[in-house]
Amino acid sequence: MPKLTFIERNGQPREVVAPVGLSVLEVAHKYDVDIEGACEGSLACSTCHVIVDPAWFGKLTAPTEDEEDMLDLAFGLEKTSRLGCQIVITEALDGLVVKLPSGTRNAAG
Ligand code: FES
Repeated sequence: MPKLTFIERNGQPREVVAPVGLSVLEVAHKYDVDIEGACEGSLACSTCHVIVDPAWFGKLTAPTEDEEDMLDLAFGLEKTSRLGCQIVITEALDGLVVKLPSGTRNAAG
């Protein structure tokens, strides 16, 4: 099964087994990784924001316009930001690395 590494807010990497077909958000919830995902994947929030490792960003399916719109509202947006609920694990993504954004919606930056 593919592996997925979350870089936690404190900078610690956490490698987990990620079943094919689950979204990054669902994998995070399975392992109690701190990604909120308030709308549970229906593209109505931006609380599942993750920053994809630049080496992996190009390997993901391009975001839809709806995802781009939601991402614009995310805090601490970076060039490789994506919504975790929209990244679905495939065998090709074995080794994927995503970072949790450090900012919260109340903090600057
Ligand atoms: S969980 Fe709301 S957009 Fe991903």
